[in-house]
Amino acid sequence: MKDAFGLPQSLLILGGTSEIGLATARRLIARRARTVWLAGRPSPALDTAADRLRTLGADVRTVAFDALDPGSHEEVLGKVFAEGDIDLVLLAFGVLGDQARDEAEPLAAVRVAQTNYTGAVSAGLVCAGALQTQGHGSLVVLSSAAGERARRADFIYGSSKAGLDAFAQGLGDAMYGTGVQVMVVRPGFMRPRTAASRPETPLATTPEAVATAIELGLRRRSETVWVPGALRVVMAAVRHLPRPLFRRLPL
Ligand SMILES: NC(=O)c1ccc[n+]([C@@H]2O[C@H](COP(=O)([O-])OP(=O)(O)OC[C@H]3O[C@@H](n4cnc5c(N)ncnc54)[C@H](OP(=O)(O)O)[C@@H]3O)[C@@H](O)[C@H]2O)c1
Repeated sequence: MKDAFGLPQSLLILGGTSEIGLATARRLIARRARTVWLAGRPSPALDTAADRLRTLGADVRTVAFDALDPGSHEEVLGKVFAEGDIDLVLLAFGVLGDQARDEAEPLAAVRVAQTNYTGAVSAGLVCAGALQTQGHGSLVVLSSAAGERARRADFIYGSSKAGLDAFAQGLGDAMYGTGVQVMVVRPGFMRPRTAASRPETPLATTPEAVATAIELGLRRRSETVWVPGALRVVMAAVRHLPRPLFRRLPL
């Protein structure tokens, strides 16, 4: 069950090696989360991630989960929920793709869409149903500022996130009044670790900053979280720019 501050004690991270997912897990373990499920494609990286979280004192288990295999989601995720209540599901899997290659190879583009959108539709519905059966819990969906308005540079990824974002908003409305919270998180551009010592890119963020924003959003029971927060205003303006002007922006 969540603690008195609305923070979760048991987590399920879909995309168990996600930098944002793991930063969030570290933060919530520091706030007394005790059980963590890392769901992802089996790999040494997934095992290492689990070991690192164990050193922080959490009971960590891994489970094989592939977003591209929606037919397996009910069984795989059902087994996790059968082991005990989950207070927070963090939907953190996703692929950026390679825009130039994906434009040239439609099947590669479809893979981006299937991972980010249809995989999330399937996993999101399964988890929301399980949370509803419990009668409590949060589903946090990592969308992206890129979904607010598709850009020439990454419209395949951006459109998949736009679909995911719309889906998650609708799911949040469907869950309204059930005790289940759906929170949509829209991070902006992530500053590469190699750039950590360089001057900050305006509106860039980090996995740790996203984790902090997620914690705050959970405490406030927010429906939408932008990271950094100033992106909310910037993207509202960008969304309404006339297309001839938008096309000329160096975005
Ligand atoms: N980083 C950013 O700048 C940024 C900005 C805005 C939004 N976001 C979104 O936030 C989320 C997390 O970002 P991040 O930077 O933490 O991601 P990340 O470190 O690149 O990790 C992506 C995760 O997705 C998993 N994944 C990819 N395909 C999968 C599949 N078919 N089945 C299961 N898992 C799969 C990866 O697993 P494997 O280890 O198996 O590859 C990995 O765990 C993503 O949805 C991303 O689109 C990121």
